[in-house]
Amino acid sequence: MAISFFSDQKVQEILKETQRVLEVLPKEELSQEDKEWIHKTTLEAYEKNINPGILEYRKSVSTEYTAIEWSDYGNAFTDINGRKYIDLLGGFGIYNVGHRHPKVIKAVLDQLKRQALHSQELLEPFRAILAKLLADLTPGDMEFSFFGNSGTEAVEGAMKLAILHTGRKSFIAAVNGYHGKTMGALSATAKARFRQPFLPILPDCYHTPFGDADAMEDMLKSADMVGNDIAAVILEPIQGEGGINVPPDDYLPRVRDLCDRYGALLIMDEVQTGMGRTGKMFACEHWNVIPDILCLGKALGGGVMPIGAFISNRSIWEHLFAEPWLHSTTFGGNPLACVAAIAGIHVLLEEKLPERAERMGNYVMQKLKSLRRRFPKLCVDVRGKGLMIGIEFPSDEIGFEIARGLFDAEVLVAGTLFNAKTLRIEPPLTITQQEIDKAMLVMEKVFKEVNAKYFPEKVPVRRTITERS
Ligand SMILES: Cc1ncc(COP(=O)(O)O)c(C=O)c1O
Repeated sequence: MAISFFSDQKVQEILKETQRVLEVLPKEELSQEDKEWIHKTTLEAYEKNINPGILEYRKSVSTEYTAIEWSDYGNAFTDINGRKYIDLLGGFGIYNVGHRHPKVIKAVLDQLKRQALHSQELLEPFRAILAKLLADLTPGDMEFSFFGNSGTEAVEGAMKLAILHTGRKSFIAAVNGYHGKTMGALSATAKARFRQPFLPILPDCYHTPFGDADAMEDMLKSADMVGNDIAAVILEPIQGEGGINVPPDDYLPRVRDLCDRYGALLIMDEVQTGMGRTGKMFACEHWNVIPDILCLGKALGGGVMPIGAFISNRSIWEHLFAEPWLHSTTFGGNPLACVAAIAGIHVLLEEKLPERAERMGNYVMQKLKSLRRRFPKLCVDVRGKGLMIGIEFPSDEIGFEIARGLFDAEVLVAGTLFNAKTLRIEPPLTITQQEIDKAMLVMEKVFKEVNAKYFPEKVPVRRTITERS
């Protein structure tokens, strides 16, 4: 064999291992030997070939029991040993229509049987239809879409488009904002630990406190006075990774006005809030604010395929008409991802999932607020909109301990990328009342245990008569 880098023996080993995977994949029931092999190989490869650091952070390996995911359906994950976890995390906002919704799976399989990826030259029907659907769904006069494979790519493209349209190069983002980790998006992301090693990235990206329209005005005014004109303000309508922060009601409308006054575009990053998560199809609808560019990702792929998009109106998109390859990517807009997104949109509307998110969100919120009243030292705050809810604890340590306690009891939640003290409740919008009730009972039990550990009740000391006298 003409492989010069490694021996025939290595080739045989690789063939054996790949063959084993191909044999395991179609199995409905794994043998004990299969399970042990997968368990051992996974842990070893994380240690040696992915990143041993990850093993330190995952609560799925923080107990004696190591959970290796194997299948999912509806509103739950099942691990390789058959333990089933109610999913209150929702893949950080991927699974809005649930896990492997039959309509999304069917669309993807139907497409897969005919064609998997695109020719890169012929016209692609489902990319076109998805773009048309997004034009119909999104607020205002947004008509044109570009498809990539992730949220960070959506943000990257949106920032480039803002530069093209305005001829300006500077951006304003918000403190505690998260927009991804590629170099452009990372400039807008606001966590020092993620940015500092790569500075200066985009040098003219400024951050202002989220929810404070006066601070935004001051920053735009100063930028204008020094001639450092702002191409765009980029914001999440509700901050996700920064801790589920909902702004005051006048914030986004005021920012919209300010952008217009200072000639900056408003990029709304709805990668996490979009596709019904907060009780509206897009969170900006809560405040009747129409952005100039909208970014989508995560749930756009119907919980089955990765896809991201940025969308805008004709007058902004015109800059790409003459040179459509100014921004492109090989896999973006591939037919599998596009049919998954189309099916996902169908399910969201047919099952009225944004409305359901609002209804179930109110229910969860009410349950959590009552827990907060019972455990005021342990639970500092509960906030959010729809099924995008944050529970804040006094410290990262306590937040992690609660998340681990829930995980041990087969309820999956997680902190945010910024900290572990705020836990996120972002279940599939299809979550049932029964599943929520079960998860809330578990939560109550874990709250009780952790509360007793960190805030033990002081037992009043009974003093004797002689002590008193
Ligand atoms: C608001 C927001 N924007 C962008 C991103 C980046 O998306 P991705 O991780 O798909 O690159 C995220 C991811 O969490 C996000 O929450």
